[in-house]
Amino acid sequence: MSAATLVLNGTSYDFPVIVGSEKEVGIDIGRLRATTGAIALDPGYGNTGSCKSAITYIDGEKGILRYRGYRIEELAAKASFLEVTHLLVYGTLPTAGELRRFTRQLTEHTLLHEDMKKFYEGFPPSARPMSVLSTMVASLSTYYPDTQVDLNIIRLLAKLKTIAAFSYKKSIGQPFVYPRNDLGFVADFLHMMFAVPSEPYDVPDVVHKALDMLLILHADHEQNCSTSTVRMVGSSGTDLFSTVSSGVCALAGPLHGGANVAVIRMLEAIRDDGGDHSKFIAKAKDKSDPFRLMGFGHRVYKNFDPRARLIKEATDRVLSLLGREDPLLDIAKRLERIALEDEYFIARRLYPNLDFYSGILYRAMGLPTDMFTVLFALGRLPGWIAHWKEMREMHGRLHRPRQIYTGHTERAWIPIDQR
Ligand code: ACO
Repeated sequence: MSAATLVLNGTSYDFPVIVGSEKEVGIDIGRLRATTGAIALDPGYGNTGSCKSAITYIDGEKGILRYRGYRIEELAAKASFLEVTHLLVYGTLPTAGELRRFTRQLTEHTLLHEDMKKFYEGFPPSARPMSVLSTMVASLSTYYPDTQVDLNIIRLLAKLKTIAAFSYKKSIGQPFVYPRNDLGFVADFLHMMFAVPSEPYDVPDVVHKALDMLLILHADHEQNCSTSTVRMVGSSGTDLFSTVSSGVCALAGPLHGGANVAVIRMLEAIRDDGGDHSKFIAKAKDKSDPFRLMGFGHRVYKNFDPRARLIKEATDRVLSLLGREDPLLDIAKRLERIALEDEYFIARRLYPNLDFYSGILYRAMGLPTDMFTVLFALGRLPGWIAHWKEMREMHGRLHRPRQIYTGHTERAWIPIDQR
């Protein structure tokens, strides 16, 4: 396969065919407008490849997800989040020496400039954590020159968890707890979240492992909404911090990363309503009702989301190891069972995505609901950075889509007294 032919108004045009390393096929329409005068129209970009990328591979039909060639199931079972971060950002699994150096670098840059603490004083107690996160990330660009690209990557990877934990402390009115250099990445984050000055926080091993795995499962997902935003904003040459801040904003919405909070709110609503699932299923199917079954459906996965499977298994494991029960888990399982037998969901190939069970797992670990999407951002950061870095190294073009204009054609000016 070397060319695709388009016939437009009786004239044939040939376009090169690009084949990826997993044999997926793309028609290169880079010269479509120049040769035919027409553009491709694809609202929501469901059929549009915006770039070539060597970072993450997804086969949505088969439920396959791989980072740099490694299966997500294997990474979740065997790797640490920092190994996966190194893999995504630098392209290789680190050697023991590289991992030691990388861990030390991330440990040395966890502190925030003391002046940045004052920013938190300006936010109202009700501030949404994702809004605080995007503001704080963007403000890093006022402290660090954008020419220090490699160092800024380390700074951002190290500081995001401090920013996130400080946001939580601010929201509950507790003093900030500073990072500790003797703790690993996940333990340090949990320490900053849950320790108080008079009492350290002993991280249960099961919680440590589960959070590490959750961060791995969220670490990248090729050209999703927030990563495409990062590539879009970064394509204009914007600095790393401002660019990633835009990714945080895109992630916050309930159709994307914000779904993990929306799922819990939905399960609570079902519980408070007496547990009547059918009412909520009916609402989700009713086209006149904007309600959707949160945590269900995915643009790419059409049979199952491999991350959702791993999270569901981990949720059962963690709840049993901690000796806890969560009635919301029973509601979720029943909802999943009913939906998966329903013709509406079967016909549209709607399955639980990673957000369906992740919230219940976060709850089991004692993490507060308002912080769920922030945790998603913490996990997704290596992916955003990897894509930003890849795009810069490829010297990609400015992202600038076109449109089909549907407004008025030219019309005469109307003086104000005649309108
Ligand atoms: N509940 C009910 N119906 C749904 C749902 C849902 N969760 N998701 C999709 N549908 C229906 C649509 O109404 C549409 O029906 P129609 O063909 O009769 O018009 C059909 O399924 C196709 O849906 P689209 O919106 O075209 O699918 P799209 O790929 O654009 O949307 C999305 C994907 C946004 C994830 C959607 O499934 C959704 O809104 N899900 C709920 C929110 C959610 O869980 N988001 C997290 C996604 S994972 C992530 O971003 C990390």
